[in-house]
Amino acid sequence: MKKTIVLLPGDGIGPEVTRAAATVLRETGHEFHHQFEMQEFAIGGAALDSAGTPLPTETLEACRKADAVFLGAVGGPKWDSLPVGKRPERGLLDLRQGLGLYVNVRPVKLLESLGGISPLKPERTKDLDLEIVRELAGGMYFGERGSVTENGVERAFDTESYSTPEIERIATFSYARAESRSRRICSVDKANVLASSQLWRRTITSMSAVYPMIKLEHMYVDNAAMQLVLRPSQFDVILTSNMFGDILSDAAAALVGSIGLIPSASFGSGCPVFEPIHGSAPSLVGTDSANPVGSILSVTMMLRDAFGLSLEADWVEQSLLRVLSGGYRTPDISEPGARTVAGSVFAEILREEMQRTLEHAERYGWGV
Ligand code: NAD
Ligand code: IPM
Ligand code: MN
Repeated sequence: MKKTIVLLPGDGIGPEVTRAAATVLRETGHEFHHQFEMQEFAIGGAALDSAGTPLPTETLEACRKADAVFLGAVGGPKWDSLPVGKRPERGLLDLRQGLGLYVNVRPVKLLESLGGISPLKPERTKDLDLEIVRELAGGMYFGERGSVTENGVERAFDTESYSTPEIERIATFSYARAESRSRRICSVDKANVLASSQLWRRTITSMSAVYPMIKLEHMYVDNAAMQLVLRPSQFDVILTSNMFGDILSDAAAALVGSIGLIPSASFGSGCPVFEPIHGSAPSLVGTDSANPVGSILSVTMMLRDAFGLSLEADWVEQSLLRVLSGGYRTPDISEPGARTVAGSVFAEILREEMQRTLEHAERYGWGV
């Protein structure tokens, strides 16, 4: 198989976790005889510094032509005083918009052998395996915004707005996703207060007749935040808006131990983008302690969901689980008795374990 993959390392720990992702892609291509051509482009603060814009035309054009995009992270203190439209984060939003991406899937699953690092009691994390389907192209992120000064008083505003077709397309994706899981959707909104949420709830409910085998439930976002912490295993697919999905996914990440563990995949009319959900983690820069697992799992989502390479994705995931059950940990997921290693060392140990998995495929029950 021949694929062109654009790598967008970005800022902070973005380049470190992108290196881990690229290693996994390179190894996969090599061992399974795929031609993965990787090209690196600038985005975020790095692009602001080198090209004066957080999303250079050259970067967007390369992504448009690619088969998949991997993104590390954008943003950092150096650019924090810039206005919203000119910040590194704008580069990521423009990329999502430029590629027509309206779906962002964030799987949150308690990994085998990581039960001990969850802040929840073991009985609460049993069967914790959910997916947040976050609307990615609308809502407050892309609504009308601005600021005005009236009678010497400054006011700023951002608008939450959704149209029926925008809700229908994300719901259609979620219903299909739920069909391949345990057939439950919890749609999260704030329909007791927001008009946009009332349209959201009405539209999703009216579609449920087409999917009689899917159990649909609605929850207000404040209650959903509480239920996530209280009893996360009640959820299968959580369908929600851009803003609520951003917030709930960081909270859900904490339940499994670290935001550094969670991958994501974005789909729409253009080239799909795969990225860990964490940011540029400024305080970790230069310490080689960033957890690369979220990035590595973003690569397995790329292999499986963009290229249809399930065998290869299983290979990486099974090897990763064995590295974790061997006690290897980055500092964020360390626990007493663990073998705590640097992020780059973790990635190298995984590479070696991937080799061992190939050598002992039968014993490990992989690919047979
Ligand atoms: P963050 O995700 O960067 O960090 C939050 C916390 O999680 C920090 O304590 C950090 O050390 C830890 N953390 C994050 N990734 C980790 C990893 N891989 N391994 C171990 N620990 C990890 O969020 P923040 O501090 O709110 O934001 C920092 C910058 O990143 C901001 O500029 C923000 O806008 C940006 N950001 C970018 C993205 C993205 O590019 N997708 C996502 C979120 C935030
Ligand atoms: C994320 C990030 C982004 C978002 C920012 C950096 C624009 O927090 O991907 O979760 O809010 O979507
Ligand atoms: Mn976020």
